[in-house]
Amino acid sequence: MTRVWKIGVAGLGTVGGGLIKYLAEFPDFAPAGGRAVVTGVCARSRSRPRDFDVKAYAWHDDPVELAKSPETDIFVELIGGSDGPAKASVEAALALGKPVVTANKALIAEHGAELALLAEKTGAPLLFEAAVMGGTPAVKLLREAMVGDEVISVAGILNGTCNYILTEMEIHERAFGDVLAEAQAKGYAEADPTMDIGGFDAAHKITILAALAFGRAPSYAAAEIEGVEQVELLDIRLARELGYRIRLTASAEKSADGGVSVRVHPALAPIAHPLSQTVGATNALFIQGKKIPKIFIQGPGAGEGPTAAACCADIADVMTGAVRPVFQRPAARLQPFGSVNADGRVGRVYLRVMVKDEAGALAAVTEALAEEGVSIDSFLQKPVEDEGRVPIVLTTHDVAEGKIKDAVERLAGLPQVLESPRLIRIARP
Ligand SMILES: NC(=O)c1ccc[n+]([C@@H]2O[C@H](COP(=O)([O-])OP(=O)(O)OC[C@H]3O[C@@H](n4cnc5c(N)ncnc54)[C@H](OP(=O)(O)O)[C@@H]3O)[C@@H](O)[C@H]2O)c1
Repeated sequence: MTRVWKIGVAGLGTVGGGLIKYLAEFPDFAPAGGRAVVTGVCARSRSRPRDFDVKAYAWHDDPVELAKSPETDIFVELIGGSDGPAKASVEAALALGKPVVTANKALIAEHGAELALLAEKTGAPLLFEAAVMGGTPAVKLLREAMVGDEVISVAGILNGTCNYILTEMEIHERAFGDVLAEAQAKGYAEADPTMDIGGFDAAHKITILAALAFGRAPSYAAAEIEGVEQVELLDIRLARELGYRIRLTASAEKSADGGVSVRVHPALAPIAHPLSQTVGATNALFIQGKKIPKIFIQGPGAGEGPTAAACCADIADVMTGAVRPVFQRPAARLQPFGSVNADGRVGRVYLRVMVKDEAGALAAVTEALAEEGVSIDSFLQKPVEDEGRVPIVLTTHDVAEGKIKDAVERLAGLPQVLESPRLIRIARP
């Protein structure tokens, strides 16, 4: 006889609404596992208009109550936020040994290690495919398909809002603030865009991917985060002249000293590079392994349909019993990311130095860089901008982060230099 799984859905917004509509139409989407039927729901407002009939489901004011209800076999948390009702309800379900499916990257990145311990203690699956790259299956790829290999690095574009903004800035030659305001008006960006443009959303996601890739406890506090707020149209134009586009990249790799380095920052990628070719709200990810040299996936990172589909994939895993340890290895043995020597990391950078339009300014900049041991790869001198300001733009050969930081500090102190130089890293090939 077909088993009927009773699904409790907390959060009826973009993702929750999408999931409910899908399961109402296709409860047998995973025939090998049985039938998935939404029984109970919960949101902030019972009376808010929704594009499905909320009265068809048992209403709960409190998500913890829904998680504990005997009518909930699988608890789906789609409220959001690292703490508060999302965390309380997930903990309540796990404590009772109930499977949890969530799209909540903040919760998993910030509390994943303790939730994994709880899940392991009670034997409850904890699944979060939709939390990273929405409908593009990055979580299962790392947790399951890459287990036969040793991952060396993961890197990509994990925030669609930032990628949309950067793409629009380049195509329409518009300033960051203009594009952001329009994206907010059209509903592409949140009213409070800090999580997206500050790089924090991408940092949550890369923290989760790093934990899965390297079998570590997610350590969000260890992530180095720089958003896109400082990206100027001028840099987008100059980068293009040098043959690059600017993208907000998120990356994680094992460092030489055994730590895991996790970073989010704007980066230049050659125009033909797949990251540069990832435009609009699309997400993309490279996975580099020891035996599998390079995998590239690209797809929708958000949206009702793709994200609900990813939640369904997790529900199917529960129903068919196809469940792995939360972060590859037993939760009690998970180590944190550990410390990394950031100053020793090596890479190429783009530098824009705004100097006075006077003789000797260029020589002062190049001499200072040479004395700091920074070797220049390419160079662009632009015509005088306004009020006697001239941008000197250059890219370097490989240089240690500590060394380039010292060089930038020195440049900022030169009498010919008008403002703090702009440094943007160049993505690895
Ligand atoms: N949107 C995407 O494309 C996407 C993609 C990947 C992951 N995610 C993640 O999925 C989760 C949900 O995102 P979303 O975009 O669907 O959010 P959303 O549209 O803002 O919906 C949030 C839902 O949570 C409900 N809620 C808020 N506080 C609550 C509380 N105290 N108790 C009960 N319910 C409460 C809201 O109720 P009301 O409706 O009554 O206000 C709303 O239904 C988040 O973790 C997000 O990061 C979203």
